[in-house]
Amino acid sequence: MKATILLPLFLTIVVLSLINHHTKWIVEVEAITIPAKPDGFVHGNPKKYNPERILIEAFFDPLCSDTRDSWPPLKHALQYYGSNVSLIVHTFPLPYHSNAFTASRAIHIVNELNSSATFPLWESFFKHQEKFLETSNLTQTEIVDLIAKFATKSVGHAHYSAVKSGLLDTKFDLKTRVSFKYASSRGVFGTPSFFLNGFPLPDGESPIKYNEWRKTIDPLIHSKGE
Ligand SMILES: *[C@@H]1O[C@H](CO)[C@@H](O)[C@H](O)[C@H]1NC(C)=O
Ligand SMILES: *[C@@H]1O[C@H](CO)[C@@H](O)[C@H](O)[C@H]1NC(C)=O
Ligand SMILES: *[C@@H]1O[C@H](CO)[C@@H](O)[C@H](O)[C@H]1NC(C)=O
Repeated sequence: MKATILLPLFLTIVVLSLINHHTKWIVEVEAITIPAKPDGFVHGNPKKYNPERILIEAFFDPLCSDTRDSWPPLKHALQYYGSNVSLIVHTFPLPYHSNAFTASRAIHIVNELNSSATFPLWESFFKHQEKFLETSNLTQTEIVDLIAKFATKSVGHAHYSAVKSGLLDTKFDLKTRVSFKYASSRGVFGTPSFFLNGFPLPDGESPIKYNEWRKTIDPLIHSKGE
């Protein structure tokens, strides 16, 4: 008797939760529209993007150690090439770094408050990744607070409440989702991932070194454009 009552009840719950997931999925798909401008952060101060020259697109997770290790040699190469090479970075928080999505949201917020602080914030995250990787003794509220305070250091203390409220604002949640969907549309599934003039660079065993960037980019610089 009990089982015959419980079984339909159980099935109803399963079906309801499936419907619920289904509608949620539909709502989310509708909420993501094409963004008003292309995704990503242009590197350089002042920002430089030269559509006539070489473009590197990078997909980074602020809490990924391989992303961190790939940054110094890439930065070195960018300094070397000057206006011949532009870089656009996209956030791609990996699902198994549980605070990476919140950290990525903070980068989107800071970029909007003061875009000169965007790359300094990336670098701060790289430098202090361990702070955000093992936070099992913190509540979600404490993590948001920690990340707000941390990000504020890059953008200036006057912006603390803007950063904090940004972390609770769905606008930046959506922006970060748009970046994620953009990355997915490019077939990105790990970090760091790089595209050179739109084509994916093969995944190496270790982060791309400075001399490897040179070996890849030098021939493009000196080619006649064919
Ligand atoms: C930048 O490009 C110009 C024109 O192709 C080239 O002459 C120059 O050597 C390049 N500079 C670097 C650092 O690659
Ligand atoms: C923007 O951020 C940069 C880098 O952190 C800082 O030097 C600059 O003073 C900030 N500008 C404003 C208007 O807060
Ligand atoms: C959480 O754990 C870290 C390291 O294990 C410790 O430094 C920190 O004080 C702890 N925080 C709280 C709120 O308990």
